[in-house]
Amino acid sequence: PLKPAKQKKSKDFIKKMKETDKNVVMFFGSQTGTAEDYASRLAKEGQQRFGLRTMTIDVEDCDMTLLDKFPEDCVAFFLMATYGEGEPTDDAVEFWDLINSENPEFSQQVSIEDKPLSNLRFVLFGLGNKTYEHFNEVGKRTNTKFIEFGARRIGEAGEGDDDGSLEEDFLGWKEDMWKAVCDEMGIDQNEVQSGARISMYKITELEDYDVDQVYFGEHSEQALMSNSDGPYDQKNPYPSKIINSRELFNSTNRNCVHMEFDIKESGITYQSGDHVAIWPINPEQEVYRLLKVLGLWEKKDTIVTVENTDPSASKKYPFPVPTTYATIFRYYLDIHTPASRQFLATLASYAPTEEGKSRLTILGQDKETYKSEVIDAHLTLGEVLENISPNGKSLDTIPLDLIIETLPRLQSRYYSISSSSKVTQDTIHITATILTFNPITEPQKTVYGLATNYIHQVHRKLRNIQHPDKAPYYLYNGPRNKYYDEDTNNIKFAVHVRRSNFKLPKNPKTPIVMVGPGTGVAPFRGFIIERAKYKEEGYDLGDTVLFFGCRNSNEDFLYKDEFEELFNILGENSKLITAFSREQESKVYVQHRLLENQKYIWDLIYTRAGYFYVCGDAKNMARDVNNALIKIAQSCGEMSEEDATAYIKDLRGQGRYQEDVWS
Ligand code: 2AM
Repeated sequence: PLKPAKQKKSKDFIKKMKETDKNVVMFFGSQTGTAEDYASRLAKEGQQRFGLRTMTIDVEDCDMTLLDKFPEDCVAFFLMATYGEGEPTDDAVEFWDLINSENPEFSQQVSIEDKPLSNLRFVLFGLGNKTYEHFNEVGKRTNTKFIEFGARRIGEAGEGDDDGSLEEDFLGWKEDMWKAVCDEMGIDQNEVQSGARISMYKITELEDYDVDQVYFGEHSEQALMSNSDGPYDQKNPYPSKIINSRELFNSTNRNCVHMEFDIKESGITYQSGDHVAIWPINPEQEVYRLLKVLGLWEKKDTIVTVENTDPSASKKYPFPVPTTYATIFRYYLDIHTPASRQFLATLASYAPTEEGKSRLTILGQDKETYKSEVIDAHLTLGEVLENISPNGKSLDTIPLDLIIETLPRLQSRYYSISSSSKVTQDTIHITATILTFNPITEPQKTVYGLATNYIHQVHRKLRNIQHPDKAPYYLYNGPRNKYYDEDTNNIKFAVHVRRSNFKLPKNPKTPIVMVGPGTGVAPFRGFIIERAKYKEEGYDLGDTVLFFGCRNSNEDFLYKDEFEELFNILGENSKLITAFSREQESKVYVQHRLLENQKYIWDLIYTRAGYFYVCGDAKNMARDVNNALIKIAQSCGEMSEEDATAYIKDLRGQGRYQEDVWS
């Protein structure tokens, strides 16, 4: 057998620490895998540089009420991400509830005054995004709560900002942190030698295997076995057929795709306003590039298994195995994001030439050069390696296990669902603008966003649309895996639904004001379809107002005809107010339209207790809209700036000002 039978995991991490003789535990709460990645990196570094006996574990897999029994001579690291508006990641919900409860019940009954966690020494790094108001809420709160419970922090609490440079924040924090940890644990930093690299993964090429058990990109055993029991989630996405797709822009160089996924037989349910996660596939050019430069081209289809060398590791396999070299790069590793600075520094010692070594060393050490040449130019690992390979020769000096250990796992991307669950409960619609850009430092290069270009190519294939001369993204076209739809001869998408708090008011009589420029209109399409259905069923509806903005009325006005029909159905107390930013000299945006209609907005929100919704760009648009609303409260509600700000904040608190924003 290739895999041992599944055992039910015990959540007793203390027992596990003792059994495997660990003295440092890296706990993480992670949504997209970054916190998890940081946890593994610290675990590895602690082991190699300081001889710490580390283990890494998802808070979800731990009974955190046992923290009060955490051995006093050990140290707990917490790598905690915040999701969206100050919310915990899915895997950390239980931990979050525990530390926030009025009287957290740890395993030994002690009241909070008696400091239940006085045994705990912890290190903390929070991951967040400053465009959100509640930046790093989970990290911050973990810190204050732990201290309140009597725990003692080692070193500074680190904070990483995904809107700036998360990686640099992490690297900057980590050195002082290690000093503090070494002091605390009585480790002489200078004495410990960083010996030979310990491989985290063992890669074995298999000759004897059952081809039905080989993963060719499937994300779960259920998918591989074509077993459709569900439930479907992050770990087990549903292979969904595409039942429809079309272009929404009338433009030659900008694209936006409307796509519909079939969830009829999945048992998946959703509500209007939820998000759907989609797993992308790496472009074939990039897969080939990496296989070639690493000298794996000849054996790209060899069946391999990859296993953690540490038998106590919480994750035995980094991704589904057995699989092939090509599949690893195509489906499981993120080879598209620019290579990290620390990784380039590490790779320097494997460079085949002195020139290559010094180039990697510079990129790895000099922040400025790294930013302009790697980040701004969007240089992938494959491209960096290609640049340092002498005469295009492959670099088989670089251990593949190092790459597997260092590159992040390819992650799913979330989209706001643009359909209504009340009307099309068996299909999920998305509205995706296809992302391309030219790096400022290399304007002749075009960078293609991974997931949206994948969506675009799948759409083209479905519709039989020929690639333009130079295809930006080659879709894998080799042997099929279980994500293949024989009926349409197209790929099925691996998807799952994530619940959101972005919801219509329970009572349809409540007026709603929606602000959604660009693809920010996505969830509002669902909302409007739903309200129109209620209207047709004879319900008495509150006002339905949509502020939509785009460049030109005849180019990127999303769902123009459809909205016309829907607003016709909604009738008198509904309104679609548009802001076409590029149809006149100066820019006109949705927030300008809000101000023009301020009396009406104020009446709906203040007098008639309506709901206000914003979706789209977090950084500028959502902030500007918030400020516009404060202005409206000042002028129409005759409030001081301070009172108006407090009023808007209070609206948010009541769930009457909801945001679904991204950066
Ligand atoms: P622009 O690109 O012409 O500047 C959808 O992307 C629409 O949102 C476009 O019309 C875009 O205008 C506009 N937009 C850009 N920045 C904005 C901001 N800060 N607030 C509101 N709308 C904005």
